[in-house]
Amino acid sequence: MKIIELPKFTDERGALSFLESNNHIPFEIKRIYYLYGNTHNKIRGCHAHKKLQQAIIAINGSFTVEIDNGTKKQDFILNTPSQALLITECVWREIKNFSKDAVVLVLASDFYTEDDYIRDYNEFLKYKEIKCLL
Ligand code: TYD
Repeated sequence: MKIIELPKFTDERGALSFLESNNHIPFEIKRIYYLYGNTHNKIRGCHAHKKLQQAIIAINGSFTVEIDNGTKKQDFILNTPSQALLITECVWREIKNFSKDAVVLVLASDFYTEDDYIRDYNEFLKYKEIKCLL
């Protein structure tokens, strides 16, 4: 997991940031989704992926991504559109502390399939033990 500083061009018109597949992030983007309207600040995520890699950007507002690799937890506060948090496979993630205006942009390395999800924490720990190389 790491924060990537994206290119940022700023002038009197504001700012522009961008990222490219296999360049600023180490995978090809096959899917984009976004989370918004979480005005009651409910926790989202609470799952791991077997194969999927993702990059998360705070397109607006702020939130915290808690990453748990089964032994250690780490919080990443995202609050600027010029940073992306890279999330590998085989980690449990929870997204919390949403500002009312938060928009979470997620770039994913594959199409949606429920088969890639692990939604039970104990199952995640078992899966991690057996299948994950990280
Ligand atoms: P969910 O996994 O609960 O979202 P989060 O990880 O943010 O807590 O997803 C909510 C619903 O959206 C669930 O029924 C699955 C569906 N969904 C898709 O159909 N396609 C997608 O790309 C994603 C991410 C979710």
